[in-house]
Amino acid sequence: MNDTIRILQLSDTHFLEDGAEPEGAVAYNTDEAFDAVFRHIGEHYGEHYGEHYGEHDGEHDGEHDALDMVVVTGDVADHGRRPQYRKAAEAFSRFSVAVNVIPGNHDQDAVFTASMARPSVSTSRVIEVGAWAFLFVDSSAGNLVIDAAGRAVDPPEYADRLHSDGSLGTAEAAWIRDMASQAEADHVFIWVHHQPGCPVGMLNAEAYNAEWADLLGDLPTVRGVGAGHTHAPDTYEFMGRTVHVGPSLKNNFDLKKNTWLPPGYRAYTFGADGTVQSQLQLVDDERWPRRPFGSAMRALFDGELTFEELRAIAERKASQRA
Ligand SMILES: [Fe+2]
Repeated sequence: MNDTIRILQLSDTHFLEDGAEPEGAVAYNTDEAFDAVFRHIGEHYGEHYGEHYGEHDGEHDGEHDALDMVVVTGDVADHGRRPQYRKAAEAFSRFSVAVNVIPGNHDQDAVFTASMARPSVSTSRVIEVGAWAFLFVDSSAGNLVIDAAGRAVDPPEYADRLHSDGSLGTAEAAWIRDMASQAEADHVFIWVHHQPGCPVGMLNAEAYNAEWADLLGDLPTVRGVGAGHTHAPDTYEFMGRTVHVGPSLKNNFDLKKNTWLPPGYRAYTFGADGTVQSQLQLVDDERWPRRPFGSAMRALFDGELTFEELRAIAERKASQRA
C-alpha cells in the first residue's frame, strides 16, 4: 500500500441566490469566484480531472495527477437557505470526482443535509481511502438543541448560529473517538469547519479548543486537521498536529501582510506513511486585488472590535464622505 491520496479542499463557498445581499462584510460574487476556482482546478489538475478516480496505477505522478475527492469544509450557503444549497449542489456536481461536504456555522442542519445530496455530492461522515480514514465532523453539533421529538435541531433563532463559535458537544466528541478508534486505516484525518486552536483573536474559542485538546491527546492516529471558517488561509500547529486552513470564496485575508486575498482552494496529498502536505492555491485576478485593509479591520480580527462597532465606523466614514 504505497498509494498517495489527492484531495482538493474548498471552503466557505457562501453561495447566494441571485439578487440576495451577502451577510455581513464586503463580499466577492461567489458565483464568479467558484467559476474562477473551478477553471483553475481544470488547468492545474487536467481537463479530465477525476476521470481516473479510484485508480492508483502510478502512471499519473506529477502536477496532473488524478484526484480522489473534493472536500468542502462548511459555510456552503451564506444564509443557510434552500435555493442557496441548490446552487451549491449544482456547482459541486460539475466536478467529475466525488465531492463530500460538511456544514459550517452559516449552514442550517436539516436543510443542509436534505438539499446538498446528488449522485456525486454527499454529506458522508466517514470515508476510507487507502491507508486513510477521513472523518467529517460537524463543529456546530454542540450548538444544536433537542426538540420535543428528540431530534437535534438548530436553535429557533437563526442568528444564534450565524456568528457562533464551534462546539462539538458530548455526542459529536464521542462519535469522533469511536470512529478514530474503530477505523481500520492506519491514519486518520479530520475535516471540520471551525479550526481548533484558531490563531485569529476574534474567532479563538477557549471551550472549543479544550474539547479538541481532550480528543487529540487520546487519539494518536489523527495526523492532522483540515478546516475553514476564518477566511484567512494558514497552517499552524495544535497539539502536535498541523491544522490546514482553506481559503474562502466570499472574501479572504492575509493577516500577516494585512491585505485582502483572492478566492482559492487548498490541494492536499496524503502519503501512505501518514504524512500530509497541502498547498494553498489562490486565483489572482483584477476582480480580487490584494489591497491593504485598514486598522479597523485589523482590530476586528484581533478581537478588539465587534462586527457592530466596525459597521458603525464604516457608516460614519461613509457619511463623512457624503
Ligand atoms: Fe465562512
